[in-house]
Amino acid sequence: MNVTLLCSVRGCRLPLAREQHRLTCPHAHSFDVARRGYVNLLQPQDRRSARPGDSAAAVAARRRFLSGGFEAELTRAIGDLLTLAPGEALLEVGCGEGHYLHAFTARFGCEGHGVDLSVPAIEAAARHAGLHLVVANADRALPYADASFAAVASITARRNPAEFRRVIREDGRLLLVIPGPDDLVELREAVLGRGLLRDRVDRAVAAFAPRFRLERHERLRHVTRLDAAAIRDVMTGSYRAGRASRRDRLAALGPLAVTLSRDALLFRPVRPRAGRGRAGARRSPPTRPSPAGRSPCPPDPRSAPAA
Ligand SMILES: C[S@@+](CC[C@H](N)C(=O)[O-])C[C@H]1O[C@@H](n2cnc3c(N)ncnc32)[C@H](O)[C@@H]1O
Ligand SMILES: [Zn+2]
Repeated sequence: MNVTLLCSVRGCRLPLAREQHRLTCPHAHSFDVARRGYVNLLQPQDRRSARPGDSAAAVAARRRFLSGGFEAELTRAIGDLLTLAPGEALLEVGCGEGHYLHAFTARFGCEGHGVDLSVPAIEAAARHAGLHLVVANADRALPYADASFAAVASITARRNPAEFRRVIREDGRLLLVIPGPDDLVELREAVLGRGLLRDRVDRAVAAFAPRFRLERHERLRHVTRLDAAAIRDVMTGSYRAGRASRRDRLAALGPLAVTLSRDALLFRPVRPRAGRGRAGARRSPPTRPSPAGRSPCPPDPRSAPAA
């Protein structure tokens, strides 16, 4: 593997080296490699609950939904934004059960690294051969050396602009994928009684300035027919199943045409200015989505304020 992992013991951050079935740092901190090949670098102070991240039930629901092929078209279209040479390293932050990471490593022949806070998610991801997987909290320091990755992806997952910038190469790319305004709108209407169209793009772009500049934006949509089981899974996997009353309403839904929608944002890192902090103090100029691509992205007239 071409990427150096860093020790997660508070104040250490020294490189980890592999020794048979464990990783150790020069201070002799040591981490077992799990039977399935991943490493749990989570420290007690990095977790807020005994079982942090997605539950086993949410992971299983997402895995069933993905294995139904409902996101295959989105997966291909999201991958179209990436360019990776064989052997280059890709990191997916909040990689869940590894569907996207596996698809992209298979497509590009690149080295696939995934980090997630959830042990059940990483256990599930580890069934894909060849991935380099770590349990860690991506809201804290990422356990990778500076400039390790040609690309970092966050797909409906965590955002940590400072750490993403640190671990991306100067010529690398950040792929951020967020739910589009009309994602699951039919289900939200049926279950919540309203389907607000919330556009999250401007906020996401602002959150990554000044460290990253938007290079490309695609709004990707796919309408698919879901039966009751798939509806339950997609709502559970996206945390929208919620309370018992909602689950009852979900159970009553028959086959339905449902919109899956994503805003895929490709950013390039902004070079720090000489003499300033790492991320620079300069604000990036206002960015507009590129007109190129499959589905250019005009402002959605139906967009409403936050749900
Ligand atoms: C909606 S899932 C998306 C999974 C995957 N990217 C996909 O699209 O299939 C979000 C993932 O982020 C993980 N997660 C939540 N908080 C996290 C954190 N602080 N650090 C790392 N992962 C986190 C969850 O455990 C979950 O697997
Ligand atoms: Zn250490």
